[in-house]
Amino acid sequence: MHNPIIVTGGAGFIGSNFVLQWLEQEKRDVVNLDRLTYAGNLGNLASLQGNTRHHFVAGDICDRPLVAQLLQEFRPSAIVHFAAESHVDRSIVGPEEFVRTNVNGTFALLEEARQYWLNLGDEQKNLFRFLHVSTDEVYGSLGPADAPFSETSRYAPNSPYAASKAASDHLVRAYFHTYGLPTITTNCSNNYGPHQFPEKLIPLMILNALKGEPLPVYGNGENVRDWLYVGDHCQGIRLALQKGNSGETYNFGGCSERRNIDLVHTLCTVLDELLPQSRFIPHRGLIKFVTDRPGHDWRYAVDISKSSRELGFSPVESFESGLRKTVAWYLKNRAWVETVTSGSYRDWIDLQYRDRKSTGGGE
Ligand code: NAD
Ligand code: DAU
Repeated sequence: MHNPIIVTGGAGFIGSNFVLQWLEQEKRDVVNLDRLTYAGNLGNLASLQGNTRHHFVAGDICDRPLVAQLLQEFRPSAIVHFAAESHVDRSIVGPEEFVRTNVNGTFALLEEARQYWLNLGDEQKNLFRFLHVSTDEVYGSLGPADAPFSETSRYAPNSPYAASKAASDHLVRAYFHTYGLPTITTNCSNNYGPHQFPEKLIPLMILNALKGEPLPVYGNGENVRDWLYVGDHCQGIRLALQKGNSGETYNFGGCSERRNIDLVHTLCTVLDELLPQSRFIPHRGLIKFVTDRPGHDWRYAVDISKSSRELGFSPVESFESGLRKTVAWYLKNRAWVETVTSGSYRDWIDLQYRDRKSTGGGE
């Protein structure tokens, strides 16, 4: 009998993709601790109904007695920590929740994990892993000629979100150095794929295009992101758990840098092809340039040589194939879209875009 793993934030975008992939590919059960914030959705895990290997617990990572109780009850061999507030624009509007969950929540998990780990037998102690899922945004912003971020890049977070993730990375690092807790940190570039909440660029653009609403591109659209298909990220995390050394950090990226405006053009072309009857063709006619995000990081790109060499990480999906799969998923899963876009989602879109000035655009 294998000890399970505890996954935090496993009802969110990447967490739910990870839980589904894990249960398909691995033997250990999953205990899924998620607070079900606006971004958490049990619909992401609907296919696991009746699956006895998945134990869902609705709860907060900041709730230390609950975390302690789960550790004692389930005796996990690893914690894979996804739970976070994850949207940069929301961190600009309301940073406090980001400090609560991303900093205090990670601290709470680390403290409880340390107490639990200290009392394990020698063999289990060596095998245990605390895997912290983090972001490339902790390294700040690159210029056009800069080398991509590597594991030794200097930390220079620019948004409250990035700063809260950087703080959590530092806590994780300190728990390895000070207490010997076997931690691994992974820093990843922009993910996309099924289940992504439509506040983020790709699903927001898909859903707006379906309704014939403006596609709001911040600034001049020249900011660059490095896109990784979510399934490839989940594979990387599993490799880090299997092969990663404790105390190490590993970067993941898709080697697919795209300017936002080019990405939106590609997306519009895919929509034109998949929806030949749409009255909004050509979808690129819906593009509007709008007021920029404050402090908008110009470019992210990730050097994956260490994770390729040491873990065998190699993304399978090209950006074009992953994007096509993603669009097809959103077109097929209209009921999911209906659920997540009702209620508070509309308030967010209104707050975020209502007063954003159009700075030109359309094609
Ligand atoms: P998400 O916002 O889609 O999901 C976050 C999940 O965490 C939700 O299910 C939410 O209910 C849960 N959660 C939030 N606060 C909680 C709390 N206090 N206690 C328990 N659960 C809580 O996020 P995502 O995009 O899936 O990101 C997951 C992780 O990966 C985050 O740590 C994020 O920083 C990191 N990351 C994301 C990306 C990306 O492109 N999305 C890239 C690199 C790293
Ligand atoms: O790099 C990893 C990070 O990627 C993760 O840590 C974050 O959790 C994740 O949200 C993502 O951050 P970004 O800010 O890069 O993602 P977002 O989808 O919000 O924006 C992508 C780019 O698109 C960014 O340059 C801002 C721009 N954008 C975004 C939105 C929502 C627009 O032009 N218009 C928009 O409406």
